[in-house]
Amino acid sequence: MTSAHSDPPPVTVRVPGKVNLELLVGPVRGDGYHALSTVYQAVSLYDDVTVAADDEWGVSVSGEHRAGVPGDDDNIALRAARLLDARTGLGGPVHVSIRKGIPVAGGMAGGSADAAAALVACDHLWGLGMPREELELLAAELGSDVPFLISGGTAMGSGRGELLAPVLARGTYHWVFALGVDGLSTPSVYAECDRLRGSSTAPEPVPNAGLMSALRSGDPHILAPLLVNDLQDAAVSLVPRLGDVLEAGMEYGALGGIVSGSGPTVAFLVEEAEAGIDLAVALTASGVVRDVRRATGPVHGAHIIPVPVD
Ligand code: C5P
Repeated sequence: MTSAHSDPPPVTVRVPGKVNLELLVGPVRGDGYHALSTVYQAVSLYDDVTVAADDEWGVSVSGEHRAGVPGDDDNIALRAARLLDARTGLGGPVHVSIRKGIPVAGGMAGGSADAAAALVACDHLWGLGMPREELELLAAELGSDVPFLISGGTAMGSGRGELLAPVLARGTYHWVFALGVDGLSTPSVYAECDRLRGSSTAPEPVPNAGLMSALRSGDPHILAPLLVNDLQDAAVSLVPRLGDVLEAGMEYGALGGIVSGSGPTVAFLVEEAEAGIDLAVALTASGVVRDVRRATGPVHGAHIIPVPVD
């Protein structure tokens, strides 16, 4: 990695993962995507993405969750940087360094988060000052949930998940995430969802007004029974062990549990921080899960932080 004297200083962006509080999957659209109605919440598991001007495009990945992240041109954060460069003509090669804290291929949008972070970081590095709406349009080209990871918080997603509307959520929610051993590919889970549905056409998804008022109340007891994920049956069908994980979490005191996005991470909502510690310990001790993470939501989307010193 080299850096000319006149290069701007590197920029680091911290970006959260997400859980879908409601993920309603409708019919397949003409473009092959499924019509979605979803409520995203950004949670406090983070990746840090640093971009630095360089002689050529490149990417490197570090952190405990790095296994399975492409270290070449397929990397979605590198693709995001190149897309912003190509569209504006005002960038130039960068090296993208990703420190993973979000589980990979876990249904928590780790790859999408890195793409969102790379867009925000390059926008700053190159002094573009691109309006948020334009950045979100580019984000949507990279993936359905990339725009949400730019904005963060709690938001409703429609279309294929990329059209966002803010949601009023009071309070802080406490989550325990049970991590799967193997990742699940998102397309395979959607395909399994279609297979399980057979020839029946899914109705257009309609958001649950009750979930919105639960979020306004800020009471996790009201929210818990309303958590829903239409991809859950498909994820459990592909990885039956997820059914045991869901059962164990409820048995050990979770208020509610769902597969996160397309899985295989399972998200448990608990009453408060201490209940989260108890559940994390019980799940780990039970041997039914390999690893757990505690997190809170909602948190902010992609934001610039001081460049970390190794
Ligand atoms: O948009 P993204 O690249 O994240 O989507 C990954 C894959 O998930 C798509 O190629 C598609 O198979 C599936 N998907 C879908 N309908 C959506 C979002 C994703 O079928 N609304």
